Amino acid sequence: MNTVKTLRELRAAVAQARAEGKQIGFVPTMGNLHAGHVSLVEIAAQRADFVVASIFVNPLQFGAGEDLDKYPRTLAADQEKLLAAGCHLLFHPDVAEIYPHGMGDQTRVSVPGVSEGLCGASRPGHFEGVATVVTKLFNMVQPDLAVFGEKDYQQLAVIRALVQDLNMPIQIIGAPTQRAEDGLALSSRNGYLDAAQRSTAPTLYRSLQAIAEELRRGARDYARLIDAAQEQQRAAGFVPDYLEIRNAVTLRPAQIDDRHLVILTAAQLGGTRLIDNLVVELPSQ
Ligand code: PAF
Repeated sequence: MNTVKTLRELRAAVAQARAEGKQIGFVPTMGNLHAGHVSLVEIAAQRADFVVASIFVNPLQFGAGEDLDKYPRTLAADQEKLLAAGCHLLFHPDVAEIYPHGMGDQTRVSVPGVSEGLCGASRPGHFEGVATVVTKLFNMVQPDLAVFGEKDYQQLAVIRALVQDLNMPIQIIGAPTQRAEDGLALSSRNGYLDAAQRSTAPTLYRSLQAIAEELRRGARDYARLIDAAQEQQRAAGFVPDYLEIRNAVTLRPAQIDDRHLVILTAAQLGGTRLIDNLVVELPSQ
């Protein structure tokens, strides 16, 4: 696996793979890779002949006071994991390679609708930063397909919408959330948790499972289910940010007769913001 830092080197390597008739798969990341990222690369390797991953901690998607500076940079360990997962080329650019004219004058991509509410409400500008960098990375790599984790459910919806709206010929593949044995969704930010917080953290997923269970039993009083689950989060020591039941396809607030639902939550545990979601398919009536 080669690691390149410049757009010129990236384009040359991808052009060579294309000239050999290879399909290009792409996995954009911010590094500090865990088994969730590895699964994305493995999926890309199953579906494409030449897999490109990127590691770029994108300043444009971090708000003031967020963890941009402390976000872990673990290049050597990441390179080993990527190689083992079947990656052929790692793009690891500096900020100046991605934003050569600075970020202030950078053209932005904003995806209305699905970017609003949920993390879009708690992290203003976040999805514009994600959509902008992903658009740039797509134009740089020009992949046939790209793989994103369902753990970032709203982000995946934003990427699907942007590819559709901007007519990009890229297949977007959602990959299932990878979880620790106790249910905690794998995340680069789990490393911020101390031992006590780490043992509390799976409560977030359990609060989603409790709602899912009730929904499957026929409960439809969404507000009551949400209140009870947020109480469960608070009792465990979380400061809830949001907990919502939405239509899993449109991400609009769930209607009483929706069958394809997703429960999404974000909550603060100490200084760490955790997110999770759970899709619930209800039998049609
Ligand atoms: O999910 C992430 O790691 C980032 O948001 C992404 C998609 C790599 C864009 O910076």
